[in-house]
Amino acid sequence: MTTNKQLEIFLDIATEAVMAAGAIVQSYWGKLEEIEEKGRPGDLVTIADKEAEAEILKVLSRHVPDHDILAEESGLIGNNQSDYLWAIDPLDGTTNYAHQYPMSTISIGLLISGKPQVGAIYNPFRNELFRAARGLGATCNRKPIRVSHTPELSKSLLVTGFAYDRRETSDNNYAEFCHLTHLTQGVRRSGSASLDLTDVACGRLDGYWERGIKSWDIAAGVVLVEEAGGKVTAYDGSPLQMESGRILATNGHLHDQLSQELLRTPPLSSWR
Ligand code: IPD
Ligand code: CA
Ligand code: CA
Ligand code: CA
Repeated sequence: MTTNKQLEIFLDIATEAVMAAGAIVQSYWGKLEEIEEKGRPGDLVTIADKEAEAEILKVLSRHVPDHDILAEESGLIGNNQSDYLWAIDPLDGTTNYAHQYPMSTISIGLLISGKPQVGAIYNPFRNELFRAARGLGATCNRKPIRVSHTPELSKSLLVTGFAYDRRETSDNNYAEFCHLTHLTQGVRRSGSASLDLTDVACGRLDGYWERGIKSWDIAAGVVLVEEAGGKVTAYDGSPLQMESGRILATNGHLHDQLSQELLRTPPLSSWR
C-alpha cells in the first residue's frame, strides 16, 4: 500500500522534474537549429525533447533509482519488475514547439501496479503547473480545480487529436471528428494530449477523446481529470486500458452521451 504521505513525496518529485524540464524547453524556444524526423512523416524530435527528458531522468534517478521508467525518447528503463512505473513525456506537443506555436507541456505520471496515481504537467507557455495525486485532489498553480458543469453534448466544447499513424489507417479519428463537430459547439485540436487533459480538468473544455495515444501522453492527465471530478474510461465506458491507445475523458455529465456517439459514428463517406 502506498500511503498519502508517499504519494505527496512522489508528486513533489514529479513537480521538481517537470519544472526542471520546463526551463530547458523554454531555453530552446525559437532557437532550434535542427528538427529531426523519427520515422513517420511529421513525427518530430528536437534537442529540447532530448535534453528535457535527460533532465527528468536525472531527477528520478536521484530520488527513486529503483523505480521503472517509460520515457518517450528513451523507451523502458529498468527491468519492468517494480510496482512503480514513471511515464514521461518530456515535451508533449513537439510539432507545435518546432513551429513556434506555443502549445506544449511537460507531463510526468506515476503508475502504481499499472494504475495512474500521481501526475504533474507543466505548461511553460501559460506558466501553469497542474498537480494531482489519487485521493488528494487536483490543482493548478496550487489552487484546487474542477471540471465544467456543461450538462450535454449540444452545449459542449470538445478536443481531440490525430496520431502519427493517421495516414496509414482508416481508423484515424477523422469520422469521429466530423460526427462530433456536428453535434457540439465545436471540436478543437491542440496538438498536445496532456494539455487537452489539463483543459478538461480545469473546466475550459468539456471532453477529450483520442486513439493511438501512448501511456506517457496520458498518465498524468488521467489522475488530474479524475481528481478534478471528471471521468476517464475507454470509448465504451469500460475501465481505461492504458495500453489500448484509446481514451475518453470528460466532465462526467456528458460522458455516456459522448461514449454512445463515438460508438455509433457513421463512416466518413456519409459526410459531404
Ligand atoms: C503527440 C501529441 C498530440 C497527439 C499525438 C501525440 P508528441 O505527442 O500529444 O496531441 O495527437 O497522438 O503523439 O509527439 O507531441 O509528444
Ligand atoms: Ca506526447
Ligand atoms: Ca513528446
Ligand atoms: Ca513525439
